[in-house]
Amino acid sequence: MKFLTLPRQILCASLMTLCATGANAADKITLKLAHNLERSHVVHLAFEELAKEVQQLSDGNMRIRIYPSSQMGSARETLELLQNGALDMTKGSASDLESFDNTYAIYNLPYLFKDQQHFNRVVFGEVGKEIMESTKDKGFFGISAYVAGTRSFYAKKPITKPEDLKGLKIRVQASPTTLKMVELMGGSPTPISFGEVYTAMQQGVVDGAENNVPSWVQTRHIEIAKVFSEDEHTSIPDFLVISTKTWQKLSPEQQQILMKAAKNSEAYQQKLWEKVDADSRAQAKAMGATIVSVDKAPFRAAVKPLYDDFAKDPKQAALLAKFESAVE
Ligand code: GCU
Repeated sequence: MKFLTLPRQILCASLMTLCATGANAADKITLKLAHNLERSHVVHLAFEELAKEVQQLSDGNMRIRIYPSSQMGSARETLELLQNGALDMTKGSASDLESFDNTYAIYNLPYLFKDQQHFNRVVFGEVGKEIMESTKDKGFFGISAYVAGTRSFYAKKPITKPEDLKGLKIRVQASPTTLKMVELMGGSPTPISFGEVYTAMQQGVVDGAENNVPSWVQTRHIEIAKVFSEDEHTSIPDFLVISTKTWQKLSPEQQQILMKAAKNSEAYQQKLWEKVDADSRAQAKAMGATIVSVDKAPFRAAVKPLYDDFAKDPKQAALLAKFESAVE
């Protein structure tokens, strides 16, 4: 049957309930938000909060239906759906977004932020906003950002110096900058979508991965890779991204409601993050896993060529200067 061969995009498009143009605030609309995280992930919880608030602020006229756990595909696939106007919103980590727009590459640079305060000043400040808005012509743009701690390596054995990565296949997100980072540190980067990492680890397709502590624990990767070596190489924010077409179909009042709830969900998620991180560390300990501290200096030295490349590109260098001036 022909129907069965329709691509996922078209099927999703036919499910869309947002079809009016120039909507009024009182028009009933449902926006679909699909992402690759489990229901326990703190970003999913923030999205649930956002959906609740949007419904309240619009007197029930605006709804957000959430499809978690890669139900509509991997991060890459849901971003493509957004570009085609076949999905309204998704979550994009800056790593996923880098392959759609190079402006996001900067967030994947290792040892970019001095501390959490620096991260917050950039991501939730002027330059962060500039980056989120920069992709409108690509069919989507960011409307809110979420903290995601720091990412480190985990495997069956400790990775406390770059030499320990030699011969190890490490799962990474599909970010060219991250691939280069792992190579420079001495490992073999293997891009795999988030939902497929557990099986890949179980089957020995990869020897390890890198992520923040909550993701290591919640995904149960910890059952296979029991040693988390805290080199804290990156701090990569997550973003809620909306299709430009969907945004244009909303009335100014609906846009305002969505933006207000999105902003509030940022604060909600930031508060929750610290608790989830502490709980995950306690859970890791209870499971007999270990978190080892790492001297970051040799890792930092290994990735210097990434910064040299950035300095050669005037656009990237200008962005980096803005990041640096946000330290104070
Ligand atoms: C973190 C991050 C997600 C991302 C995931 C990954 O959990 O918050 O947005 O998809 O890492 O490594 O793919």
